[in-house]
Amino acid sequence: MGGSSFSSPLMQASSIATAVTVFFGFFLDGAESLTTHPSEARAINSVFKKWGISAKPNIWNISGEPCSGEAINNAASLLDRKYNPFIKCDCSNDETCHITGLMVNELVVGEIPEELWNLTYLSHLNLNYNHLTGSLSPAVGNLTRMKYLVLGFNALSGELPKELGNLTELLSLGLGKTNFSGSIPSELGNLVKLKKLHIDSSGLSGQIPPTFANLINLERVWASDVELTGKIPDFIGNWSKLTLLKLQGNSFEGKIPSSFSNLKSLTDLRISEISDGSSLLAFIRNMKFLIVLVLRNNNISDSIPSNIGEFQKLTRLDLSFNSITGQIPESLFNLSSLSSLFLGNNKLSRPIPTQISQSLLNIDLSYNNLSGRLPSWPN
Ligand SMILES: *[C@@H]1O[C@H](CO)[C@@H](O)[C@H](O)[C@H]1NC(C)=O
Ligand SMILES: *[C@@H]1O[C@H](CO)[C@@H](O)[C@H](O)[C@H]1NC(C)=O
Ligand SMILES: *[C@@H]1O[C@H](CO)[C@@H](O)[C@H](O)[C@H]1NC(C)=O
Ligand SMILES: *[C@@H]1O[C@H](CO)[C@@H](O)[C@H](O)[C@H]1NC(C)=O
Ligand SMILES: *[C@@H]1O[C@H](CO)[C@@H](O)[C@H](O)[C@H]1NC(C)=O
Ligand SMILES: *[C@@H]1O[C@H](CO)[C@@H](O)[C@H](O)[C@H]1NC(C)=O
Repeated sequence: MGGSSFSSPLMQASSIATAVTVFFGFFLDGAESLTTHPSEARAINSVFKKWGISAKPNIWNISGEPCSGEAINNAASLLDRKYNPFIKCDCSNDETCHITGLMVNELVVGEIPEELWNLTYLSHLNLNYNHLTGSLSPAVGNLTRMKYLVLGFNALSGELPKELGNLTELLSLGLGKTNFSGSIPSELGNLVKLKKLHIDSSGLSGQIPPTFANLINLERVWASDVELTGKIPDFIGNWSKLTLLKLQGNSFEGKIPSSFSNLKSLTDLRISEISDGSSLLAFIRNMKFLIVLVLRNNNISDSIPSNIGEFQKLTRLDLSFNSITGQIPESLFNLSSLSSLFLGNNKLSRPIPTQISQSLLNIDLSYNNLSGRLPSWPN
């Protein structure tokens, strides 16, 4: 097969498109006559060739005009798996079409070709669930229009390039379930628009950089099963838009900062395995939107807030393996949302309540100072 199959079909495509527009221009949307920017067409072509994949027939083209068919149909979503692999183009602002989105899922084994970083108009890049290997090039920092960069569930390795911090338009960064190493570059603290951050099981380690104090727009953070060390920073209490925070299975020490009491929008909070410290529980008092609260094995020595019965959305509460004292508030057992209650291995005392919500299907209160038996479920 000729390696240079690219340029002549494109020229043919563009001259055919031009001719069609000349004769039938009054039928056609103006966008139909635009062609993909040549360097971007060359780059996408080269990337797909190295990966040994091609566009699905009649959906869009690699050998012809990449920005065609569904790639320029606003109604076709980049994330729709039926188009995978897929690109999206923007033909609205310029003489040419630019490739703004690329999605390739579950198709590729190998490295990320360097030409991919020539697609400088990309704002969405989703390469989740491939078997990508090798490191992430510092050239990723060229793609300064990027908003959604999702590279999770791959075997990418090496250190994260500090140039990621140049992507200041980023709203979402997905690096979970990868094989990176080294610490989190402090430059990521420049990503002040970031709302979503996945670094769970990414191989990263070390402290959360102090520059992360800037990331006050974060809404959802998955950072479990990474070797994060040091103290959980107080400034996380300033990430007041957080609805989800997962920090399980790290190597943190110290305590859960009391500044966390500001995080009133949380619906899902999971922190576990903090060593060498002692935490309180009062900081959860105002988190009344919590659906899941898991604070296992943090050496918490406090009592359960008396207002826990006001947490009307709570479905799962796991405070096991701490040193929690005092009585279990009876109202907890009456929460109609609650289905799992794990309070085992604490220093909790009686009473065991007289009534238990019908929703409560999983209870573990073992290894406490309780006595008596749980009442039977209402019929
Ligand atoms: C990518 O860009 C570099 C430098 O800007 C250029 O040398 C190279 O030819 C480009 N590659 C493709 C496939 O367009
Ligand atoms: C693919 O490219 C050809 C020209 O090479 C063009 O005629 C066609 O419309 C393109 N789009 C699709 C969806 O096939
Ligand atoms: C992860 O990366 C290391 C090198 O940093 C390599 O030795 C190891 O085989 C990789 N593991 C997987 C599962 O890819
Ligand atoms: C990109 O990031 C690097 C490393 O953080 C920095 O030295 C460089 O100046 C940045 N480039 C631009 C254009 O901002
Ligand atoms: C939280 O934000 C306030 C207001 O911006 C600031 O004064 C304070 O220093 C921040 N706290 C931390 C721990 O960064
Ligand atoms: C657990 O907390 C208590 C104080 O409540 C403290 O005395 C003890 O040293 C802590 N244990 C560990 C392992 O940090």
